[in-house]
Amino acid sequence: NIERKVDSVLGLMHLNEKIGQLVQYSGKWNATGPSSSKNDQHKLNKLKKGEVGSMLNVVSVASVRETQRIVMEHSRLKIPLIFGYDVIHGYKTMFPIPLGETASWDLDIIKASAAIAAKESAASGVNWTFAPMIDVSRDARWGRVMEGAGEDPYLNTVVGVARIKGFQGDDLSQTNTIAACAKHFAGYGFAEAGRDYNTVNIGEYELHNTILPPFKAAAKAGVATFMNAFNDIDGIPATGHKVLQRDILKREWDWNGFVVSDWGSIGEMIAHGYAEDKRHATEIAMNAGSDMDMESYAYEAHLESLLKENKVTIHQIDDAVKRVLRLKFQLGLFDDPFKYCNEQREMDHVYTEEHLAISREVAKKSIVLLKNENKLLPISKDVKSIAVIGSLAHDKDSPLGNWRAKATYNSAVSLLEGVKNAIGENTKIHYAKGVDLTIPTLEAGANQFLYPLKFNTTDDSGIAEAVEVAKKSEVVLLAIGENAYQTGEGRSQTNIGFLGLQNDLLEAIYKVNKNIVVVLMNGRPMALSRVSEITPAILECWHLGSESGNAIADVLFGDYNPSGKLPVSFPHHVGQEPLYYNQKNTGRPYSNKHVTFSSYRDAPKSALYPFGFGLSYTVFKYDNLNFDKTEIDRNGRIKVSVEVSNKGDRDGEEVVQLYIRDLVGSLVRPIKELKGFEKIMLKSGETKTVSFTIDAKILQFYTASKKWEVEPGDFEIFVGGNSKTTLKSRITVIE
Ligand code: IFM
Repeated sequence: NIERKVDSVLGLMHLNEKIGQLVQYSGKWNATGPSSSKNDQHKLNKLKKGEVGSMLNVVSVASVRETQRIVMEHSRLKIPLIFGYDVIHGYKTMFPIPLGETASWDLDIIKASAAIAAKESAASGVNWTFAPMIDVSRDARWGRVMEGAGEDPYLNTVVGVARIKGFQGDDLSQTNTIAACAKHFAGYGFAEAGRDYNTVNIGEYELHNTILPPFKAAAKAGVATFMNAFNDIDGIPATGHKVLQRDILKREWDWNGFVVSDWGSIGEMIAHGYAEDKRHATEIAMNAGSDMDMESYAYEAHLESLLKENKVTIHQIDDAVKRVLRLKFQLGLFDDPFKYCNEQREMDHVYTEEHLAISREVAKKSIVLLKNENKLLPISKDVKSIAVIGSLAHDKDSPLGNWRAKATYNSAVSLLEGVKNAIGENTKIHYAKGVDLTIPTLEAGANQFLYPLKFNTTDDSGIAEAVEVAKKSEVVLLAIGENAYQTGEGRSQTNIGFLGLQNDLLEAIYKVNKNIVVVLMNGRPMALSRVSEITPAILECWHLGSESGNAIADVLFGDYNPSGKLPVSFPHHVGQEPLYYNQKNTGRPYSNKHVTFSSYRDAPKSALYPFGFGLSYTVFKYDNLNFDKTEIDRNGRIKVSVEVSNKGDRDGEEVVQLYIRDLVGSLVRPIKELKGFEKIMLKSGETKTVSFTIDAKILQFYTASKKWEVEPGDFEIFVGGNSKTTLKSRITVIE
């Protein structure tokens, strides 16, 4: 039905209108890219002529209505616009940054948070988000590691699909759902040396086995759109990558949505040295299957003449237009172009008490307990005195994280506020900032892309007061880590330790009070060696969103037993990056005699806190790993079960993880690969049996024959509470 409608609209369109559908402009302010030289008047004229397909960064019912009205009143065919926006981890009610939320390993709440983000943004006129980012990201230096699901292909796959389902629901035409966008296709997370926008050098097999699986799953789950990427892969810019976009995505995966370029990435093929000029870039991008041009002004300028010269075909243009029109029909915009413009919904559905309560749930489940010596945590609510120290301790803005859509500046519950809300008047709460992490450089609401952060490296005048506060307190909560804008786009760092004077603060406090709980707030894995050496308790709290302080207090005082697990490896030292658990063995994995094996002379080889790791206030024990058989053919199935017991005196949740190792392959295989997990609740003293099915889907990989297949041979199967688990057994796949 929709296809017929798409064809009939296409049949009415002139070439300029077709090309117009492939053009996307940013709204009045330039949110995320380099400053644009095109003026608003140009955009307005194009809107009137029906030569724009989509706008981004036009947000609020009033602005969307006004922009859509221009098209409806002036253009010949009145083809509605779609409105895109970076709704990454909430719209106004902020949820944990995606990396943090992934640490919950709870697909239901991840889906729920995306659904709320969709509901709030849809109530504000938006009908398309540029999320989820499903770039496997293994380098902590890369600022955008905060925006995805971490280092593992399987975790990115299931989390990505949960987010897509949350955003899109079952029916895109509902006014509480929005179209999602799988980004960045592909390889962006492998930017060399973690430097944003940098080149990506990976081989074909790595591409297929590590990077593409989340995207394939997204396509299969019906994600409405894809966004390509800024990087080149082995010399070919993703935006001009025909194999990726036309051959794999559209032909092999048979996906019928549309691909939007990243901001200006068509034009950037000139800087890459891949296109001579914008006209050439247009030719490459269209031939490669990039359907919509975000802010390059390339398609509007050159597609028509390229068509006349047979450098692109009308079939390519029509196919791209049909893909865009299809989504507009699916969203129901042809029936009612103003269906997302309802002031009442905008007032009622945004930043509600209900949404904040769910945000707190998600936030507390995202917290990871990294260390807890002598059961320092949870802290009794009868504690006499507590110090809350650190530049992030009463920071009401950083917990909102980067890519915070329409969050109100300074609107998060700070740690200090959360602590005050949680405990009674009998406890003395002493607060001291200690040091400022950053030197303020930007006004609230200013374009953060134009103002790099400056760190305070000189003013230590507040440390003395912090020391006094620590001296007179039973326990110290030390909130250190990263400002919201230390991670995100363009925020790569070579130092993943504590910037500014935070180390000085830590050492000064440590001299007078050893009862330190480090409350980490950050958007990337950090190098925690020193912190881990001297402090008894570490709580990884990411940038947790609107309810940050309350959620942290829930965990600190034991109202919630932490259950998060790391979605990324935390190194001892930045020099280990990129660091990930699913690495290959190498020919020289270990030796106890020689130096000539794969290691570092000045740092360990493995993670300080590994992927999948996270403690609880209780203790879990794994026993009786059982298989219903140990030999199968390529199409067979094995049922694995394990008993998990709660041996402590508190109820708690555990993420039971399944890993495999393919011992010999036609290609070298990783030493472990996550293939499944289940989050279970166990009462104190309770034992549960958890089962997984091992089948071809789990055992296959993209082999040397360039096919997804299971290769016969031996596999090790591991089950446990993190990627270091040694509980394993062996199975064999026969011909
Ligand atoms: O969605 C983003 C993308 O991830 C990075 N460049 C800008 C786009 C739109 O804001």
